[in-house]
Amino acid sequence: LLKVKIAPSLLSGDFAQLANECQRMLGFGADYLHMDVMDGHFVPNLTLGAPIIKSLRPHTKGFLDCHCMVSNPEQWVDDFSKAGADSYGFHIEATKDAGSLIKKIHEANMRACLVIKPKTPVEAALPYLKDVDMVLIMTVEPGFGGQKFMPEMMPKVTAIRKEFPNLDIQVDGGIDLTNVGLASSAGANVFVAGSSIFHAQSPKDMIAELRKIAES
Ligand code: DX5
Ligand code: ZN
Repeated sequence: LLKVKIAPSLLSGDFAQLANECQRMLGFGADYLHMDVMDGHFVPNLTLGAPIIKSLRPHTKGFLDCHCMVSNPEQWVDDFSKAGADSYGFHIEATKDAGSLIKKIHEANMRACLVIKPKTPVEAALPYLKDVDMVLIMTVEPGFGGQKFMPEMMPKVTAIRKEFPNLDIQVDGGIDLTNVGLASSAGANVFVAGSSIFHAQSPKDMIAELRKIAES
């Protein structure tokens, strides 16, 4: 059975305290630190880039799971690698050559994650999944935290799980206690959660509860 991983999205954290927020989440049992990179072009919001990952790297041993919502994802691979990113997630909608990009990410010694937006059919991703370390099925339109989970994305997860029993399948957007079970039953094993964790009374209990449901 694939390991369940909980990945708090630091987008819902305090950017002025990013290192502390990362350490806090790891202390609460987080498996990955999900970093939402937005360029104001691929998505209508602006967040952070490689310089912040580089500043953060000496302060945490956590797995920096970078979700790059950027146009021209090829452009930033080397910068993120040098900054110390562990995983580079790119949107298939943003590249003309996903195969070459996956090679470039691996040559830069990062794990490669292929991401698809809600309107992109799963068939677009399938040809590349034998070559990636993780696939991310967006369960909201990328750009902002705090949106509503789209259950109609679950058939994509199921279709991928059927063909790739050992691949890490991540879901991202609106994940909370009401839908983590659904996503898990569909076949996802890596769960990004921003609002539900950071706005919880006890983020530690929330991580444990999300994990418990996902594992059951
Ligand atoms: C949306 C981001 C998500 C988001 C998750 O573009 O990719 O990672 O911040 O936050 P919640 O869990 O609040 O939807
Ligand atoms: Zn994300």
